Amino acid sequence: MSVLLRLDNVQRHFGGVHAVDGVSLEVEPGSIHGLIGPNGAGKTTLVNVITGYVPMQSGHAWLQSDELTGLPAHRIAALGISRTFQNIRLFKDLTALENVLVGMHTRRRDDTLAQLATLPMFRRGQRSLMDDARGLMETVGLAASDIAGRAAGTLPYGDQRRLEIARALALRPRLLILDEPAAGMNPSEKQGMRELIERLNQDGLTILLIDHDMRLVMGVCQRVAVLDFGRKIAEGTPAEVSTDAGVIKAYLGTGGEKVVTSAPGASAGDDTDSLIEQTTRARSRAEPDQAILEIEDLSVSYGAVNAVRGASLRVAAGEVVALIGANGAGKSTILNTLSGLIRPDSGSAVFDRLDLTRAKPSAIVHHGLVQVPEGREILARQTVLENLELATWGRRDGAAKRTQIEAVMKRFPILGERRALRAGTLSGGEQQMLAIARGLLARPRLLLLDEPSLGLAPQMVDEVFAAIAEIHREGTTILLVEQNALRALEIADRAYVLETGQIRLTGTGDDLLHNPAVRRAYLGG
Ligand SMILES: Nc1ncnc2c1ncn2[C@@H]1O[C@H](COP(=O)(O)OP(=O)(O)OP(=O)(O)O)[C@@H](O)[C@H]1O
Ligand SMILES: [Mg+2]
Repeated sequence: MSVLLRLDNVQRHFGGVHAVDGVSLEVEPGSIHGLIGPNGAGKTTLVNVITGYVPMQSGHAWLQSDELTGLPAHRIAALGISRTFQNIRLFKDLTALENVLVGMHTRRRDDTLAQLATLPMFRRGQRSLMDDARGLMETVGLAASDIAGRAAGTLPYGDQRRLEIARALALRPRLLILDEPAAGMNPSEKQGMRELIERLNQDGLTILLIDHDMRLVMGVCQRVAVLDFGRKIAEGTPAEVSTDAGVIKAYLGTGGEKVVTSAPGASAGDDTDSLIEQTTRARSRAEPDQAILEIEDLSVSYGAVNAVRGASLRVAAGEVVALIGANGAGKSTILNTLSGLIRPDSGSAVFDRLDLTRAKPSAIVHHGLVQVPEGREILARQTVLENLELATWGRRDGAAKRTQIEAVMKRFPILGERRALRAGTLSGGEQQMLAIARGLLARPRLLLLDEPSLGLAPQMVDEVFAAIAEIHREGTTILLVEQNALRALEIADRAYVLETGQIRLTGTGDDLLHNPAVRRAYLGG
């Protein structure tokens, strides 16, 4: 077998944390190789080591005959390894197109010259670079004509992920490493990501894929390696790995039962209109008279982009209400408006008599509305424990606070183990757990959860949904935004489907779960 990437006994420790603990791996040219494992297993660290972002402490790595060991990141990139980042690292203030152009930098050695030159010949060169960059945006499914000129930071999360891939492709790599490319996407968008990965692979690109979505990983990879506590615990075909007892125990949990090898088709149905009739009935049956949160005709825009257009929804005390919809549908915008972080153009939003369109964010929190934001937003320089303590600052009873923090650490044991570490060094999924733990500790009356399952290993998703159900039982009302619509609808009393800033459907969680168009568009068949 010929080998494109070879790792031999690679190690990387951080103090006492054995993030990567003697990993050997061989990736065949032209293949799609999967890398899975629990949160904190060492996947991202391994990528950081391969790409030279973090030096390995021992072991060796080669790209074909080129030894990578000890090379700085830019040399490894120039040899043809390109990657995306789990925590998106785009230049948020640069346009989408400029971000892709930046990615081309490493591959072109004459860039500086071209920028200085005013000769038409060079300008033509620039133009073809721009065309190339636009072409790459189209390749990854971004409409260059619409978004090339938009600041990358204003794009919806899923589009930012696609843009990361376009930027990585700009290097013209031989090996592309994707670190959770489908995180934050709903099943039909994941299907699009799967098609993109397959297309890139058919064009000759070798891919190392990390993702927690087992349908995606098992569907596209020829081989899959499994890490746990920094060590490779299994490797083989998807079928071998997904039936391995050790892998099921360490990683898959009940998610293993949901593994299927083909993700079903996408695109919203055209029978949406008749559905709206059906769900109007559902609406009159399900919407509460007495609401603790009332949103009426809310419209929010970012400059020329109308993100939310006349949305109305209500949440009664004690309910779990889910808000589902594609990337960019306006879900996070609604939550951020409720938290007072964005001001609407028109419409009203009232939580227990407090006008959320005018109140300060701090007053909103004080009134009992707490948001766990997408993208985590933990305090990176503070320790895990300090982050948790901050969440309980409003309360006086010191002993009770400690008990609650201990309880949260019991639910997420890794947070206990990492309590003295800076939160910024946690893995992607560990940071997500910390963000959720903080939301739980704040004991709000209304909890807004934005994508709680983002970046979590299958087993951990079970854990987080159990925690949500528990605090709901203890009396917290919940408004939940979640791309894993299946899980969200399973626990929701009611749900709203948001499409391009408008509420298109509403009904009980059960109604929507069995609604064919919703299944097709958001649940993956
Ligand atoms: N700079 C650091 N200092 C201390 N610990 C670190 C550092 N970087 C990573 N770690 C620890 O190493 C472990 C592996 O982290 P890594 O990010 O590689 O996990 P992962 O497999 O990518 O997880 P996830 O699926 O959650 O993204 C984690 O427990 C993390 O806390
Ligand atoms: Mg990671």
